[in-house]
Amino acid sequence: MELLKAIRDRRSVRHYRSDNIPDEILIEILEAARRAPSWANTQVCRYIVVKEARVKEALQDCLGPQNPARAAMVEAPVVICAAAQRNVSGCRNGAPVTNKGDWFMFDAGIALEHIALAACNFGLGTVHVGSFDAGKAEQVLGIPEGYSITEMMPVGYFDEVPRETPRKPLSETTYLDRFGEPLLKG
Ligand SMILES: Cc1cc2nc3c(=O)[nH]c(=O)nc-3n(C[C@H](O)[C@H](O)[C@H](O)COP(=O)(O)O)c2cc1C
Repeated sequence: MELLKAIRDRRSVRHYRSDNIPDEILIEILEAARRAPSWANTQVCRYIVVKEARVKEALQDCLGPQNPARAAMVEAPVVICAAAQRNVSGCRNGAPVTNKGDWFMFDAGIALEHIALAACNFGLGTVHVGSFDAGKAEQVLGIPEGYSITEMMPVGYFDEVPRETPRKPLSETTYLDRFGEPLLKG
């Protein structure tokens, strides 16, 4: 699948079949995360590939009752959890070098979207899950001191046809030379 097609076709998938993902495909998807860019190539992200039902259930318990991704956490055959080392990305000697603070969330976001697009390439669905009790999830996964869990991403074969979500037009979001100056006229 072409990259632009994967970008167009990717949707958040929240219902999955239980079919396993072949190991070679899973490795290709993780390889896409490994290739992601990071601040000064610091590569602060670590990935926990969760397959065991008991662990997936414990992670599902970290999501609030209103989170629409709750079912996905146990239905998907695999949940990839990203944890990142703090005070390294965007930092020198442990202190931020920009006014944005620690860039670990940014690096993790890029890597997780690489996973989402690579999964799409293989006909697999994903959903970014960011709203959960991170302290509880860190306990479940044994995340060490100095690292924070950033996101959890169920991966698997679709059991739904996900709806396309709307996007603002470029004319509203994209400017020329200066904030507010339209790039697209008319
Ligand atoms: C950083 C981030 C965190 C997200 N967290 C959740 C979440 O906790 N639960 C959920 O169901 N969807 C979550 N989503 C998915 C968004 O709701 C979804 O990407 C958005 O509505 C656009 O839909 P689409 O992915 O199908 O294009 C998250 C997305 C991002 C990028």
